[in-house]
Amino acid sequence: MLKGKHIILGVTGSIAAYKSAVLCRLLVSAGAEVKVVMTELAKQFITPLTMATLSKNPILVEFFNPENGEWNSHVKLGEWADLYLIAPATANTMAKMATGVADNLLLTTYLSARCPVAVAPAMDLDMYAHVATQRNMERLKQDGVHIIEPGSGFLASGLVGKGRMAEPQDILDAVVALFDEKKKSLEGKHFLVTAGATIEPIDPVRFISNHSSGKMGYAVAESLAERGAKVTLVSGRTSLATPKGVDMVDVLSAEQMYEACNAVFEQTDGAVMCAAVADYTPQTVADEKLKKGDGDMSIALKRTKDIAASLGEKKGSRVLVGFAMETQNERENAQSKLERKNFDFIVLNSLRTEGAGFRGDTNVVTLIDKCGAEELPLMSKREVAERIVDKIETIL
Ligand code: PMT
Repeated sequence: MLKGKHIILGVTGSIAAYKSAVLCRLLVSAGAEVKVVMTELAKQFITPLTMATLSKNPILVEFFNPENGEWNSHVKLGEWADLYLIAPATANTMAKMATGVADNLLLTTYLSARCPVAVAPAMDLDMYAHVATQRNMERLKQDGVHIIEPGSGFLASGLVGKGRMAEPQDILDAVVALFDEKKKSLEGKHFLVTAGATIEPIDPVRFISNHSSGKMGYAVAESLAERGAKVTLVSGRTSLATPKGVDMVDVLSAEQMYEACNAVFEQTDGAVMCAAVADYTPQTVADEKLKKGDGDMSIALKRTKDIAASLGEKKGSRVLVGFAMETQNERENAQSKLERKNFDFIVLNSLRTEGAGFRGDTNVVTLIDKCGAEELPLMSKREVAERIVDKIETIL
């Protein structure tokens, strides 16, 4: 259910923290990778050893590891996560979240999280019903935080009422529903994606091409389709299977890709141009195999059409995303392509960065738009695709 999902489980100082152990086990059993952040007070209710054993990851409490001085980067943690789940969330922590207080790692991580955030409140009935708590929860809802409603029943104080943290199984169900909701967020939208390398024939035997495997573009197509979008994938030659739920248009040359993209673009809500398209193609294609002679040989090349630029001219309110594969002056070149081709943003990857670019399963990219640049760490191409689609959703 949660295979491959990265979840930060935030635990605050409440008696309900004992249920976090069960919740952690349920999340891990559902396939999620879980990292636990605890407040100092939470350690008095449940031991870090219990949570470390269940999550299979070290527990994060302080900004620095007191033993070796190593920095626990809340920014990296916030970037890593697909969901930040704070369970239990005390009235104190929710009040701080609502006002942007950042006096512990759990809270700084909240302020750095780029993923959805959910809280499962836990407190006594009067604290829960208090106008201040209700106001803070309303504020958090307005800020986009998902509230997993507490249940009613016996409370640790001996009173009976609303305030018990939701049961771990109910929290797990809410988490799964949240991911499903995210998945369908692009229902009714249509996207064009280009992927792979074009092939420019020289003669019936030889061609000019490049190293693109199609993996990056296919990952984007898959991510869009999983969120409910209709996807037309215009692909150069690759050895990859068609992603589920995607309409495939196979092409070979840049000219064919140009025709296929222009035929569909106006019916779409946007396009992601991931293909590595040849900028030049032979002026003439020999009908027969060219025979070798004694001397050198040269082939006259002519410019291909720029597909992305042609879509950029008629983009209107559609979202247009480009890629830039660079080997030098990376930022400058990407910036100039962003403007020239009228992209909303461009995804820069450099051949000089280890783990980035052609063929591999990972990439290291910078998302550049007119307002600035966001550098992402080394990620799987699928994770990069998710981040690209998140940004598309923000623009939409
Ligand atoms: O397929 P993989 O092995 O996973 O590798 C992924 C990738 C490295 C191919 C991908 O991440 C990538 O960078 N794709 C774009 C490569 C490229 O050709 O970039 P460019 O800087 O030459 O082109 C800039 C943009 O214009 C790109 O969006 C490109 O698709 C588009 N373009 C370029 C030329 C052309 N004639 N028409 C275009 O539409």
